[in-house]
Amino acid sequence: MAGATIRLASTGMWAPAKVLTNADLERMVDTTNEWIVERTGIRERRIAGDDVSVAQMGYYAAEAALAEAGMDANDVDAIIVSTATPDRLLPATACDIQAILGANRAVAFDVWAACSGWLYALSIAEGMVATGQIRTALCIATERMSSIVDWSDRATCVLFGDAAGAAVVVPSEDEGRGVIASYMRSDGTLADLLHRPAQSVRTPIDVAEIAARDGYIKMAGREVFKAAVRSMCEAVDAVLASAGVTKDEIDVLVPHQANIRIIESTAKYAGIPMERVWVNVDRYGNTSSASVPLSLHEARSAGKIVDGSLVLMVTFGAGFTWAATLVRW
Ligand code: ACO
Repeated sequence: MAGATIRLASTGMWAPAKVLTNADLERMVDTTNEWIVERTGIRERRIAGDDVSVAQMGYYAAEAALAEAGMDANDVDAIIVSTATPDRLLPATACDIQAILGANRAVAFDVWAACSGWLYALSIAEGMVATGQIRTALCIATERMSSIVDWSDRATCVLFGDAAGAAVVVPSEDEGRGVIASYMRSDGTLADLLHRPAQSVRTPIDVAEIAARDGYIKMAGREVFKAAVRSMCEAVDAVLASAGVTKDEIDVLVPHQANIRIIESTAKYAGIPMERVWVNVDRYGNTSSASVPLSLHEARSAGKIVDGSLVLMVTFGAGFTWAATLVRW
């Protein structure tokens, strides 16, 4: 096992106060609380108001992470942001967050890898630290899924929510502590199973696409479900093999929160009892790439992750993209 190059010095999160319950959704589309809970495990999700931008959401999470690390914006060398829901397509959301933070010394750019984006961001930060280009990175995920969900499509609108998460990444002083293995994969041949067909540069405004509601998420749920379980299990195996760690050594599993059945299948495969799995999909739904840093922060705040904990994060998303990261806290 190679030694750790980076460690996570702190975490932060932000979620809007507005709660949308399954009972609310029963009044909006043809669904029931029972169906949603049984098929997904979701009971409520948070919805951001028009008074907050995606960049501001990311900024709130970043500020919380910087405060815990005892740092300020001038300490930041890189701002790496994952979002599938930017306020605007140009420039990068990371640049907007940089401006709000006043992190004048930093390089700022976005990662476009859907739900896997935050783990991809960690790996990019690791490479930049390893090559000596930077010392301190802010890895942020900020997602306003409510703005790309079709609120008339019961098959998708019940699944998603809004939130942001962040971590301050610094060089590891102890090679046994920090990110000890990472694994990332993608399969673009399956892209059409989970995508937004329109709102691209190819067709900026097209009346037929608007009528077809093609600017919103379209998902082949069953196929995505199977691919998610298969890919997350593969990522678990790969990252543990590269670290030379066995499944029973994992203290906490922090999986992407898309569906409780996907989480349970992955945990079962990984041989990790549910008491050691962080679950908040019931309270937030699927917040895309914000899901893992949000969960990480909550698990730390609840005392489930402490110094020395071996934490396995694993995710899956549109692209398809999937990834796993193993951290000795
Ligand atoms: N309420 C009531 N009925 C519904 C609803 C709803 N909200 N949505 C769908 N149904 C109906 C369907 O119309 C279908 O009815 P039919 O049998 O009469 O045709 C029936 O329920 C079953 O639908 P399925 O899609 O087969 O249900 P499934 O058990 O597969 O659950 C779900 C659907 C929850 C979407 C599941 O497939 C899933 O979680 N897939 C993975 C989704 C996911 O993880 N996506 C995100 C990963 S990537 C990312 O995070 C961006």
